[in-house]
Amino acid sequence: MAKLIIDRDEYHLPDGAAIGAVCEQAGIPFCCNTGVCGACKVEVLDGAENLSELTEEEKALGMDRKNRLSCQCCIKRGTVKITY
Ligand code: FES
Repeated sequence: MAKLIIDRDEYHLPDGAAIGAVCEQAGIPFCCNTGVCGACKVEVLDGAENLSELTEEEKALGMDRKNRLSCQCCIKRGTVKITY
């Protein structure tokens, strides 16, 4: 079980789960859901290594390990802390 912390709220997800639905539920704005618009951008405060590798869509929008598109990320394991 992995833990995603969005500001002060904690969410528990199965290892390997996509984080998009939880992020959207937490109030992060979503639009395209395909990594094109950039609306769902989050800053990774801790645990960047526990997120999936950057997608081509994220690279195209200039993301890096600390700045991710939440519609494109899966949490591999452990704890990840993000803010938006
Ligand atoms: S919702 Fe458009 S990039 Fe994630």
